[in-house]
Amino acid sequence: MREFTGKIAVITGGGSGIGRALACQLAGSGCSVAICDVRSATLTETRDLALAAAPDGVVVTAFLADVADEEQLLAFRTDTERRHQIDHVHLLFNNAGVGGGGSFVASPRQEWERTFDICWGGVYRATRVFLASLMRAPEAHLINISSVNGFWASLGPETPHTAYSAAKFAVKGFTEALVGDLRKHAPHVAVSLVMPGHIGTSIVHNTIAEFSSGDGDPLGPELLQRAEAFRNKGLTPGQAAEIILDGVQAGRWRILVGPDAYALDKAVRSAPDSAYEQDFFDRLPGVQSR
Ligand SMILES: NC(=O)c1ccc[n+]([C@@H]2O[C@H](COP(=O)([O-])OP(=O)(O)OC[C@H]3O[C@@H](n4cnc5c(N)ncnc54)[C@H](O)[C@@H]3O)[C@@H](O)[C@H]2O)c1
Repeated sequence: MREFTGKIAVITGGGSGIGRALACQLAGSGCSVAICDVRSATLTETRDLALAAAPDGVVVTAFLADVADEEQLLAFRTDTERRHQIDHVHLLFNNAGVGGGGSFVASPRQEWERTFDICWGGVYRATRVFLASLMRAPEAHLINISSVNGFWASLGPETPHTAYSAAKFAVKGFTEALVGDLRKHAPHVAVSLVMPGHIGTSIVHNTIAEFSSGDGDPLGPELLQRAEAFRNKGLTPGQAAEIILDGVQAGRWRILVGPDAYALDKAVRSAPDSAYEQDFFDRLPGVQSR
């Protein structure tokens, strides 16, 4: 899709980070945007920021919906069709995501399944819910955000990362399989798989908030420090969104984001058998990717 002006984009998890940056950049280029999120305050903030960046005539709507709940996604679709006065959308960014469920052995089952339900189930359900809307557009593009953890299931030897990695591998497999399926059955719908390395967002803050019990401040000093350190490293969400949108415009089905993503991709391909051994981690200076 060469041109975003005059198009309509749906973004899940648009309240923060990469989703917010995508919303602002798309609106800025004249594309109307419909975002959903589970956090109403940040959702409203993104709507206001995107509107402020947009030329006249661009419509920006925000809707509270959990991607793990198909009924809520159906309500989001209905709201998008009504407020944008359309029966189709041109772009769907399956972006909502959360960490958590690190250990299959030690993490609570509920947390594991919630992470998997958002990171994989959200991509699956939103694609089901919006596929017909994409197919009704004269040209459309589905963009699924996986991760470097979609091809490398680790955060390092001391940090199990099972639910997120399982979900991101599923997103990768699903999206790669859709390349051929869409070419055969809906050739006017393109698809891209996005695999970012470290992007400095609030995903650690948001993950802690998602799984905190609600008693007291979920961010004690140590966790807060970890979350802040994560947010202060890597590419900015704006840089990530630019790379993603460039890839979509260039029609690339495979979009790596950041130098660490390229380095890791190369390292895993060149030594797959040792990808989880200590010497592999030792050879990856600075790679602390999600
Ligand atoms: N930040 C990174 O380093 C990185 C790296 C690789 C992949 N990713 C992926 O990029 C995507 C965006 O992450 P981010 O870093 O911008 O994080 P973020 O936390 O800043 O943004 C994610 C957004 O998704 C929303 N969300 C969470 N659960 C939801 C649900 N059930 N329904 C609807 N919305 C929900 C959050 O409220 C948040 O606004 C995620 O899929 C993430 O896994 C991030």
